[in-house]
Amino acid sequence: MAKGKAKQTSSKSHRVKTSGDIEVSTYLEIAKELGGEQPAAVEEAKPKLEREAIIVIDFGSQYSMLIARRVRECKVYCELLPPDTPWEKIAPLKPKGFILSGGPASVYEPGAPLAPSYIYESHLPVLGICYGMQVLAHQLGGQVTPGAKHEYGHAILHLSQVDSPLFTDLPPSSPVWMSHGDKVEKLPPDFTALAYTENSPFAVMSKDGKVFGLQFHPEVVHTPEGKTILKNFVYGVCGCKGNWTMSNFINDSMAKIRQQVGRGKVISALSGGVDSSVVATIIHRAIGDQLTCIFVNHGLLRREEVERTFNVFKLNMGMNIIYVDASQRFLKRLKGVTDPEVKRKVIGEEFIRVFEEEAKKIGKVDFLAQGTLYPDVIESALTTSAAAKIKTHHNVGGLPAKMTLKLLEPLRDLFKDEVRQVGLALGLPEEMVWRQPFPGPGLAIRIIGEVTEEKLEILRGADFIVMNEIKKAQLYRQLWQSFAILTDVKSVGVMGDYRTYGYLVAVRAVTSDDAMTADWSRLPYEVLARISSRIVNEVPGVNRVVYDITSKPPSTIEWE
Ligand code: XMP
Repeated sequence: MAKGKAKQTSSKSHRVKTSGDIEVSTYLEIAKELGGEQPAAVEEAKPKLEREAIIVIDFGSQYSMLIARRVRECKVYCELLPPDTPWEKIAPLKPKGFILSGGPASVYEPGAPLAPSYIYESHLPVLGICYGMQVLAHQLGGQVTPGAKHEYGHAILHLSQVDSPLFTDLPPSSPVWMSHGDKVEKLPPDFTALAYTENSPFAVMSKDGKVFGLQFHPEVVHTPEGKTILKNFVYGVCGCKGNWTMSNFINDSMAKIRQQVGRGKVISALSGGVDSSVVATIIHRAIGDQLTCIFVNHGLLRREEVERTFNVFKLNMGMNIIYVDASQRFLKRLKGVTDPEVKRKVIGEEFIRVFEEEAKKIGKVDFLAQGTLYPDVIESALTTSAAAKIKTHHNVGGLPAKMTLKLLEPLRDLFKDEVRQVGLALGLPEEMVWRQPFPGPGLAIRIIGEVTEEKLEILRGADFIVMNEIKKAQLYRQLWQSFAILTDVKSVGVMGDYRTYGYLVAVRAVTSDDAMTADWSRLPYEVLARISSRIVNEVPGVNRVVYDITSKPPSTIEWE
């Protein structure tokens, strides 16, 4: 087993060796060889801005996270918290107002979640949406009719009191999106109706211009004026100033990292993906060489991926990176493995093993940095019933169970689009910041059946062409993912005068907002034609290309 500081590159080609057992070299050596720049000076963090936040009490609506995103789009920090959150946890966030989300319950059901008492006792502004409005009506002495006719879809909202601060810049009538069964039948004392629809006389209710209830959903795109309504609530009613910007986030976050880490040492797994790159960059800016990144090449990466990642970090920073080429080790472990879940398990376990081995060599380490994002935080905090898992999406690069390290998660307050903005603000190149998601187990779950070196090379070739043609057609960013799959099917073809018997490659391109659902992209025929002809002409061993025209559900995005 070759260890130590073996050189991984040739200065001409910038190629990093991808075979052999574990070989380690520090990034700095490679950077020097490639003529990389010196580490950027660590910026001084500016003083913290006055905190302000809007708290969404989440009653379980499928749109709850969308409310938080909309509020953040107004540059106001917003958190989603369950109804049993104690005031002590909320007070430090300096809330300026509350939003009560929609939800599937009925206020009269035994055990239905209601608003905690501080919602009313704090005298802060409140906006109840759908079920949230019914909660307000129920708790404040109004009447909600259970099981009324379900109203679902478009309705026209007519304003009856146009001078409400909630309605600034709103036309007298506009479309809104309804989705409710129960309905407020009698307003609570001191409330007035501000707007109506054909089926809802109390489509908007209010008390003192401070507590509001909306029967419809302002957070969804089907309510075109919804953003204005939320903006009016956040600014006009709650008096927020809107200081949640990414550059403020960066300064704030760097100060927090320094405070948390002190003189400690941090390690982080670097994969070249958006999240791990932004995590590493922001931590490096804050604490410089106290951070060491470990880049495990499991040999299941795409063509030029290792080099691309190295180039980015070479050009942008002088980060301490330990590069580990463990491709042969992973291939050995994957020999004979065909079951997709077993592949994931094997790769996940091996990754942790390699990572731990490398981490041990660094000496005493105090923190493990992770690219946990806000949706992960919400999911683990709010999910009460464990939904059936279709695939185990354990993040390769996740926390090694045995490591007793403290976690450093600088992105845990951010949505994915905010992470991208932070990445751009930190100077990461667009190509990296807008990279499509790539699964932790890499190409292994895009090769149907056993993973071999030969199949990996074929898939890399096909995948490179898909990416290249999609980028050339300027479609890359609008697609959630676009890639090739090497199927286990061989078919007969003819090339020149010869009969061929080669692999079938499938091409997948999908649009999606969050990967929960996805639609196959209607790629132009010319793009598909170029992809197909290039793959059969340029990738040896492939003689047929098909395009996957199934959506998720019933299919999934990846084939395994
Ligand atoms: P599916 O195939 O379930 O994928 O529709 C949804 C999203 O998750 C990604 N994916 C994974 N990511 N480890 C990962 O880190 C995995 O094992 C894994 N499986 C799927 C997939 O690329 C898509 O974005």
